[in-house]
Amino acid sequence: MTHEVFRFKDRAALEKRIAELGLDIPLSDDISILFSPVVVAGKTLPNRFIIHPLEGADADAEGAPSDLTFRRYCRFAQGGAAMIWFEATAVRQDGRSNPRQLLLSRKTADDFKKLVEETRQAGRQKFGPNHSLVLVLQLTHSGRFSKPEGKPAPVITQRNPIIDALMGIPADYPLIPDDELDSLEDDFISAALLAAEAGFDGVDVKACHGYLISELLASHHRHDSRYGGPFENRARFLVETSLKIKKNVKGIFITSRINAVDGLPWPYGFGSSPRTETQEDLSELKSLARNLADLGSPLLSLSLGIPAYNPHCGRPYNRPLLGQDLPDEHPLVGVARHLRLTAELQKSFPSLPIVGAGYSWLRQFFPDAAASAVQTGKASLIGLGRLSFAYPNWPDDLAINGFLDPRKTCLACSRCSQLLRGGGRVGCVIRDISLYAREYKKIKDQLAISRRVSQRSPAQRKSRITSVNLRTRQKKARRGVRAKKENEEN
Ligand SMILES: Cc1cc2nc3c(=O)[nH]c(=O)nc-3n(C[C@H](O)[C@H](O)[C@H](O)COP(=O)(O)O)c2cc1C
Repeated sequence: MTHEVFRFKDRAALEKRIAELGLDIPLSDDISILFSPVVVAGKTLPNRFIIHPLEGADADAEGAPSDLTFRRYCRFAQGGAAMIWFEATAVRQDGRSNPRQLLLSRKTADDFKKLVEETRQAGRQKFGPNHSLVLVLQLTHSGRFSKPEGKPAPVITQRNPIIDALMGIPADYPLIPDDELDSLEDDFISAALLAAEAGFDGVDVKACHGYLISELLASHHRHDSRYGGPFENRARFLVETSLKIKKNVKGIFITSRINAVDGLPWPYGFGSSPRTETQEDLSELKSLARNLADLGSPLLSLSLGIPAYNPHCGRPYNRPLLGQDLPDEHPLVGVARHLRLTAELQKSFPSLPIVGAGYSWLRQFFPDAAASAVQTGKASLIGLGRLSFAYPNWPDDLAINGFLDPRKTCLACSRCSQLLRGGGRVGCVIRDISLYAREYKKIKDQLAISRRVSQRSPAQRKSRITSVNLRTRQKKARRGVRAKKENEEN
């Protein structure tokens, strides 16, 4: 099933393609269920919509939110979703994915409090004094993808020949020791305390996308460790940390965004098994969900894949990152995978709301797929990522008009991911052009230069250096001749 870009003029064309591909992506004619209330953590949400976590990479050097961060969350608050799931926020400096990732610490806590207040206030301004948003903060350590100073500084929990090779991590690179993981648990607790003080309703102990806790879940090859090998050990960090937050932090709920599958062959990924041909096995995910539900998590969010390795898995797209190949998979296969795996977990836990993802590629037709998922008990809540960058008020538009404006939807062009990968500030390059187009051009130009340099052979690089030196010397000489001539003429 080869890749294809989105070219569906109407729903019938999309349905035809889904049928031709033999996929299970039912579309509903009635989207009213998306505006039906649901109770989460004792609060009644007026609709099923969540703004998914999206790293904006626009914090200051200390990790405090900037004007751009405030702008993003106020726009989300005025967009009409019932819940905003704030982006990945580091619990300590060495776990930042880039030098502008948010970092929650004593130093930045007041700024986070202000961000929460202004976000709630923006929502009330638009929807009235009784409008109540549920705000969740995603807490993270970026693990092997840490770049706190802009250069890779991986913190790895196990050797993973596939991802290590991709990242150029040598075979003798040290693993984070158990005692450091013990103290990292405490960093999560401290950050959760600060999140509660800042006014968040919940914290997400992030366990997806190959970051530290996600990698621990797959650390079959971490030997002689409390955190590696058997499932209880691999799940220890997530379960213990959640339990400690529950015991030590009052007034906040705990949840997690977990990878259902990493999309790596067993034994290098979570959610894969030698017993299944498809490499998908949700048995450990279900045990984890049972553990987290038992300790009081009122909802769980699912994601898929490792963006650095298989970005199409978690976020089906039209165009890849610059210089990368298109996957040999139709984006609708990715959408169907998200739906199927979310449904499997939701069916196993009918009373635990599960958040589904991966809908942005469907553009204006996503509500029909989302409504069908909720109607048939395959998801309780629907989170939108890239669409929210592009069209932050999509829930409100949908409530007012009953449909989305196709001129405002996400084009799944991967430019936002490119900004994140390239160290830029992140937003929608197409729909928020005045802020992000220049940022994108900068990243693209830098990439083109570094690609041109790396594509040159050593001999070419040497001769180029020589010719640059020669040109510089020639220029200097010409300048000298001109100056001499001018002196003589004067
Ligand atoms: C630029 C960018 C930043 C993201 N940042 C986060 C993040 O901080 N935390 C997270 O769990 N997921 C993050 N995601 C994943 C999204 O939340 C979402 O799961 C994914 O984009 C698929 O949903 P969509 O099809 O609606 O975009 C990010 C995705 C993109 C493209």
